This record gives sequence, structure tokens and C-alpha cells, in this order.
Amino acid sequence: MNNTNFRSIKPICDETRPKVFIETYGCQMNVNDSEVVLSILQDAGYALCDSIGKADLILVNTCSIRDNAEQRVLGRLDVFRLEKKKRKVLVGVIGCMAERLKEKLLENGVVDIVAGPDAYRDLPRLVSAAKLESKQINTLLSHEETYADISPVRMDSNGVSAFISIMRGCNNVCSYCIVPYVRGAERSRDPKSILREAECLIANGYKEINLLGQNVDSYCWVNPDKESEHVDFARLLEMVALLDRSVRVRFATSHPKDMTDAVLYTMAMYDNICKHIHLPVQSGSNVMLEKMNRKYTRETYLQRIAKIREILPDCAITTDVIAGFSGETEDDHRQTISLFNEVGFDSAFMFQYSERPGTKASRHYPDDIPTQLKTERLNEIIELQNELSLDRNKQYLGRICEVLVEGRSKRSADDLIGRTSSNKTCVFPANGHKPGDYVNVKILSCSSATLIAEIVED
Ligand code: 5AD
Ligand code: SF4
Repeated sequence: MNNTNFRSIKPICDETRPKVFIETYGCQMNVNDSEVVLSILQDAGYALCDSIGKADLILVNTCSIRDNAEQRVLGRLDVFRLEKKKRKVLVGVIGCMAERLKEKLLENGVVDIVAGPDAYRDLPRLVSAAKLESKQINTLLSHEETYADISPVRMDSNGVSAFISIMRGCNNVCSYCIVPYVRGAERSRDPKSILREAECLIANGYKEINLLGQNVDSYCWVNPDKESEHVDFARLLEMVALLDRSVRVRFATSHPKDMTDAVLYTMAMYDNICKHIHLPVQSGSNVMLEKMNRKYTRETYLQRIAKIREILPDCAITTDVIAGFSGETEDDHRQTISLFNEVGFDSAFMFQYSERPGTKASRHYPDDIPTQLKTERLNEIIELQNELSLDRNKQYLGRICEVLVEGRSKRSADDLIGRTSSNKTCVFPANGHKPGDYVNVKILSCSSATLIAEIVED
């Protein structure tokens, strides 16, 4: 493909420019947002730097999903305070915490700029104004903003795998969740801009594209000029997969109430769509699911799992779960344990319930499970999941899998690291291969987290 049609997606190196340092917390969506922010700031004359000591502007892109995510950022502000005592530097808090806490963030004397997730285009103005005048804030949420025309500048990237946000915001009101309040209403991005961004990544040598959204299954773009024309997620997935059959496509996150069979059939049709579905269950108890406003039951969740296994027998399934939501009884917890046993997830992100101010749960349901009990339940789920992950990984022993090499192993420079289509991390001796190569490996041994392998040359 011809590179010249696309602008550079690498950070600009220019010692003469003012420097921005960007630190990112939270989900992959936030990582991608930081890349959008860098693009906007580069256009305004900034260049990225790799330490706070060199920065003229420090930005921290934040997460509000659980209290501990916010506490970590507040701790970082103390570090930035020390830097500010030494010299002149601006500090900005952007993203979900900026949206949630707004002016409150300006009270501690460290923060100069507060910008919510839909205000990033305004950052150059906010920064200029903060230099001249007092503190600046923009936390307006938008019904339209998708940053569709902005080419994210890829930082900290391995040059192999990149994210594309296909939508923003969320229209589900899960009672425990802060996301709809801090990221606003759901908007789907124009597929043409998504395809253009994917083509640009491919032209720059990327081999894997991760399509991101809070709920990708509700992606729906309606042509504003012709309302009968629309693109749903299954179609978008197919369009991205067809761009280059040697480039992998992944996506997250799926929602059990919205995931269609059409998505599963599209996955089955294209080898380059990776066989992995992240399908957060949150709880195995119908009482909890109802209270969480998840809009599916244990039974319908299990039906979706059965359908995945029928259409995509080799597909890995991962999940998210919350231990200790309001009113969770021992029986509710046992239902979660039994669902985990029944499904046999490949892996899971497991959390204790953290009450978030302003959510439906915080207004109506008491956070009444003692911390110690939440921790005990979470630990039981983690222990079980470790066994289940090991069981799932053992099924790979002796098998030959195609792996996309993503980098060098941290433990040994002689080893490479990569993932199978099913998202299993593999470690294997390099044998002269490099990041970006596809290699076939034979799985020799495993732990619950990793497959140990060797390359089989054909
Ligand atoms: N407390 C704990 N975990 C939460 N999640 C979302 N909100 C909360 C909360 N208030 C978890 C869910 C979600 C994942 C991204 O974070 O499991 O799927
Ligand atoms: Fe991502 Fe949600 Fe955290 Fe915001 S609150 S960074 S959307 S996980």
C-alpha cells in the first residue's frame, strides 16, 4: 500500500517545541484517547517527552471506574506538586475523573487545566489561556463528538497492534457504573473514517487492529444523507477484516444482551478476525443481574455462550465480574462461582464492588457488603479462575498455533512474545524472527497466564 497518502502517526521529535508528558490510567479507550490528545497537541506545536522533568505541560488521562483508580491519580498529583515547586510547569487532568470532579480538581492548587473526554479539541486553547490567566476548565459532553477526523499519534506502541475507537459513550445504565455519566451518550463513528484510520495503520506496517467501544454490539451508524442506509457492527467488522486479510482484527467490549449471531457468523467467515470474545457477565445471580440493570439473565447469558461455542468452537471467552455488589448473599455469590465453573472462562477481570457517587446504585442500593467479605468472595473467584485458566491453557498442549509476534520477552531478550488468535500469550525462542511476523508455534507447556512454545518452521 502507498504510504504517502497518510500523515505520520508517530510522535514528532523536535527539541525546539514545547514538551508535553502524558500519563494514562484506565481502559484501552483511554490509551487511544491519549493518542488523540497527542495528535491535537502536536498540531498546536507541542512535542511528546518521556519524563515529567522535561515537560512544559503534564497531562494525566484519568479513570473513575473504581475508587482505587481515582486514588492512584490523586497520589500522582502530589508528585506533580513537587515538580511545580521546582519550576514552571502546567498540570492538566483530563478524561473521566475530570468529567466527574470538575472544578473540585482545581481546588488543590496543583491542577491548572481540567478537560473532560469530549473537550480535547479545546485543549490548545485551554493550555494557552492557562499560561496567561488563571485555571481553565471544559467538561462539556457532546452528542456528536467522535474525533473522527483526528489521526491518533501512536505512542508507547509496539508498531504491531493498535486501537481504533469506533464509538464513544454508553447508553446502558448499569446501576453500578459511572461510565455513562463521565463519557456521555453513545455515538457511533462514521465507518469511512474508521476504515481510513485502519488503512493508515496498515500502511504504517501494523498487523493487528483492535476495534474499541463500551458496547461494540450496539454500534450503528446511520447515513445522515440517506437514513435508510446504516452500518451495524457485524458489517463494520467485515469491512475492516476485508481491508487486508493478513491483518488481524480484534474487538472489545461485547454486551451479552446485544451480541448478535451475525457477529459470530462474520467471525467464523474470516480467519483474520481473532477468535476471542470478551463478554462481561458481572454476576451469575439473576437477583444481582436485575439489580445491576444488565438486561439479561443467567440463562440467556449461558445461551449466548452456547451459541459462541456452536458457531466458533475454538473461540476463547473472557469476562468481567464484580464481587460484593449491594445485597449480594452467599447464595448469589455461589451462583457466580457455579456460572464460572459452567462456562470455564479463558480468563477474567475480577473486581470488588466500589460504589461510585451519582450512579443509580449509589442513590438506591446500600453498599452493604463488608470489605472483608467482598475481598473473601473476590479471592475465591480469583482462585477458581486461575484453575480454569490453567485448564483451558492445558488444552493447547501439543497444538500448533499461529502467533503474531508483538515484541521481545521481558525475561529474556532471546525470547519473543506474541498472541494466538484466541488471545493467549505465548513465549518462544526467537529463531531469527521479529515483531510483526506471523509464526507457527508448537505449545510445549503452560501456566495459567502463558503458553510456552517453540517455533515450527515449515
Ligand atoms: N465497581 C467495581 N467494578 C466495576 N466495574 C464497573 N463499574 C464498577 C464498580 N462500580 C467493572 C465491570 C466492568 C469493568 C470495566 O469494570 O466489571 O465490566
Ligand atoms: Fe475507561 Fe470507564 Fe475508566 Fe473512563 S471510567 S477510563 S471509560 S474504564
